[in-house]
Amino acid sequence: MCGIVGITGVPQVAYPLLEGLRRLEYRGYDSAGIAVAKAGGIVCYKEKGKIKELEEIIDLDDLDASCGIAHTRWATHGQPNRENAHPHLSGKVAVVHNGIIENFGALKVALSNKGYVFHSETDTEVLAHLINDLYRGNLEKAVQQALKLVDGTFGIAVIHADEPRKIVGARRGSPLVVGVGETANYLASDVAAILGHTRQVIYLDDWEMAVLTPEGVTTTNIDNQQITKDIEEITWDLDQIQKGGYAHYMLKEIFEQPDTVLDAFRGRILPATGDVKLGGLELTDWELRSIRRIIILACGTSYHAGLVGEYLIEEYARIPVEVEYASEFRYRSPIIEPGTICLTVSQSGETIDTLEAMREAKRRGAKVIGITNVVGSTIARESESGIYIHAGPEIGVASTKAFTGQVTILTLLTLLLGRRTHISAEKGMQILEELQRIPDKIRQVLDQSDKIREIAKAYAQDHNCLYLGRGVNFPIALEGALKLKEISYIHAEGYPAAEMKHGPIALIDPQMPVVVISTRDGSYEKIRGNVQEVRARHGKIISVVTEGDTEIAALSDHVITIPPTLNMLTPLLSVIPLQLLAYHIAVLRGEDVDQPRNLAKAVTVE
Ligand code: F6R
Repeated sequence: MCGIVGITGVPQVAYPLLEGLRRLEYRGYDSAGIAVAKAGGIVCYKEKGKIKELEEIIDLDDLDASCGIAHTRWATHGQPNRENAHPHLSGKVAVVHNGIIENFGALKVALSNKGYVFHSETDTEVLAHLINDLYRGNLEKAVQQALKLVDGTFGIAVIHADEPRKIVGARRGSPLVVGVGETANYLASDVAAILGHTRQVIYLDDWEMAVLTPEGVTTTNIDNQQITKDIEEITWDLDQIQKGGYAHYMLKEIFEQPDTVLDAFRGRILPATGDVKLGGLELTDWELRSIRRIIILACGTSYHAGLVGEYLIEEYARIPVEVEYASEFRYRSPIIEPGTICLTVSQSGETIDTLEAMREAKRRGAKVIGITNVVGSTIARESESGIYIHAGPEIGVASTKAFTGQVTILTLLTLLLGRRTHISAEKGMQILEELQRIPDKIRQVLDQSDKIREIAKAYAQDHNCLYLGRGVNFPIALEGALKLKEISYIHAEGYPAAEMKHGPIALIDPQMPVVVISTRDGSYEKIRGNVQEVRARHGKIISVVTEGDTEIAALSDHVITIPPTLNMLTPLLSVIPLQLLAYHIAVLRGEDVDQPRNLAKAVTVE
């Protein structure tokens, strides 16, 4: 995830700026840059890759100043390269930005018409030009005016060569913190960057701005009204900060899901028409209507997201879908007919099996579309078009937020395809209305984390676990089982609930916990029957039910509830308690959940 550092009042400011960037490295990034304000103009260096590579190209004498900004970029718009790296410049203005400017297309046209030239593919460059265009000798005023024209999210730091001791910061939806020093002041997207200088901080809220000089900090709202903010003292150490106060990256990432799901659909939904826009797809309406078959290629957790996609697309868009393990697809002779598109689903975009399967599909004439998290990854580059899930870097080896991001994108794709064939405007609007409630509903499930931890205590020493689900929750049963086995090393299997009686029922006894996803939908009665079968054999039942359920709850040893939602959106909620259950069981067993044995974050070798 992108990182911002700004410092004013320190001679040779490039050194502490680079040090600040290093403290943000844990967030993941693919390019970095630095700019300082000098009376003559802005001096800026940026480079693709790591901070080390940036350091190799910079001239520290050239950067000799006491006020500057720096950035680590995790690509969202455009490839990770030098041009797209921040800071972005326009005249005497330099800007670093975290977040997404949703109306950057329209702003770009307007600014181009005024003669501004764009050097990057980023949404941020419009901000630099906009601020430059509005600048009349007062930077904070220009920033205020510019931000009123912008839709989307931002945390920004801006400098201007004519006011070379000043940094202006502003936030809406993307964190920004001011560090208050004795003779210098600091701005960052994450306190980790400034902890070495001060522990006195001011957290900006949405629609707030800060103006920093070496002598002091003023805080205003975007309408230029002064506001008084409390100065807080940081008591956390660096490790705690990097994990956002959570014990593990995995837990932090589980708790990020209300935001990452929102980021996956933000700016892509059209609630007024019940429709969706997925710009990166580059398919016309006619091409969308011509799709005859979809093959989804993926591995592991991404494969499970693909299975959810199969249920959704077939039911709501009525297009035949096959989901195949990429490792199988690449070594057989798959049949690709005209009108077939391949969706390659991969968090890292580097998984070798998925990449090779995609190449094979392409060779055989399929149109390939990447659904990835890492911008500029090999799959993103080699697919003909793609959709990013915008989940930010996933550091925990066990994938969590990438899964819900992938499912969100597949839900959007279902709606896009369905609205051109079978889904009415009214139905589309209903789906989008409910999708917008999902982040809050995820929060409600996360609120049960302590309760799930208590449940986990009863099962942490078990050796086996069975997960059952039907319909769209069957892939969730598979995903729950995968999460448990990879981080706790407990043997776990996921099954379609009705399959239990064709074999696995033989295993059920008082030592076999069975996690049943039994939400209120068309198959509720059937799954209740499956739960009764487990109970009759004295298996222990942990059920995930819809709030208000009493019937299955009465048959269960432990109950976790999820808020009611549309059946098609249920996976976005039902997977959360299973992630938490796996996490708490692994922690109770003393396992290193962020670095499970034998597993790598990206499997780039066969
Ligand atoms: C499970 C997990 C793996 C990955 C799989 C595919 O928690 O992380 O199963 O899902 O290796 O990785 P990507 O999505 O990067 O292709």
